[in-house]
Amino acid sequence: MTRPSVGILGAGSMGEIFAHGLLRAGWEPEELTLAVRRPDRVRDLEHTTGAKATLSLAEAAEDKDVLIVSVKPKDVPTVLGEISDLVTPTQVVVSVAAGVPVSVFEDALPGIPVVRAMPNTPSAVDLGMTAYSIGVAVDGVHAERAEVVLAAVGDTLRVSEDLLDAVTAVSGTGPAYVFLLAEALIEAAIREGLPHHAAERIVHQTVRGAGELLALSDKSAFRLRGEVTSPGGTTAAAMHVLEDGGFRALMENAVRAAAERSKELGEKVSDR
Ligand SMILES: NC(=O)c1ccc[n+]([C@@H]2O[C@H](COP(=O)([O-])OP(=O)(O)OC[C@H]3O[C@@H](n4cnc5c(N)ncnc54)[C@H](OP(=O)(O)O)[C@@H]3O)[C@@H](O)[C@H]2O)c1
Repeated sequence: MTRPSVGILGAGSMGEIFAHGLLRAGWEPEELTLAVRRPDRVRDLEHTTGAKATLSLAEAAEDKDVLIVSVKPKDVPTVLGEISDLVTPTQVVVSVAAGVPVSVFEDALPGIPVVRAMPNTPSAVDLGMTAYSIGVAVDGVHAERAEVVLAAVGDTLRVSEDLLDAVTAVSGTGPAYVFLLAEALIEAAIREGLPHHAAERIVHQTVRGAGELLALSDKSAFRLRGEVTSPGGTTAAAMHVLEDGGFRALMENAVRAAAERSKELGEKVSDR
């Protein structure tokens, strides 16, 4: 399919990741328009992307095949209010706002195709994971256009909407779990006597290598962990400490807290 033109409504961290990702994937700057709130961001974005940036949501939305709504959940109603008169059913609205249900968009934009997506920040290096669900007005062409745009920055998976709070808590928030682990591991390495730069280099490459091995191998995480763990060895000693300290329960509680927060954010916007 030909590349759909894209309007990014709210080009902050996630919106900018999409802008650069689309450009890396072969989109021409003329095929993108980015909307932001501050004039200095307009200048910065035009400089770094070569695409048109504007303070007008309407200008960014007009005539684009795909509209990525990437403002904070609390700002979604403002965006919907500003674009409701000009969006047409040939366009598809792709929201990445955490927790905001498809129904919020469909109520404000009757008959307009809506996709609710949850990307993550590794999209910045084309290794994103985006799960998405589709609204009632989405046909094959809309779905394909949304999929092409989302897949420009990594892997995609279509799920039913009731799973998106869990997805948000796992892959949307997920990079932060890994970064926290990396921070803690670097600090621990330094306490064990490694120089700071060596600790960073060793941890970065270990996280990268373990991630790549997990993704490329056909073995489960459990099995790969088993292969590093000999009975009575060093890894066994470390795993014992983590298991004993409640690592799994802590992870489960963290994911539950994030999923509940995602639901709350969505309910707040739905109640307006
Ligand atoms: N960051 C992540 O890891 C991540 C992952 C998955 C999903 N998301 C979702 O992505 C969305 C954006 O998150 P973010 O981290 O990218 O936030 P962000 O950096 O604050 O970006 C939001 C952008 O929207 C702009 N904006 C807000 N209201 C606007 C309006 N009325 N007109 C034009 N621009 C407007 C803001 O402009 P100003 O800067 O001028 O205020 C800002 O540039 C959120 O809904 C979040 O749930 C984020």
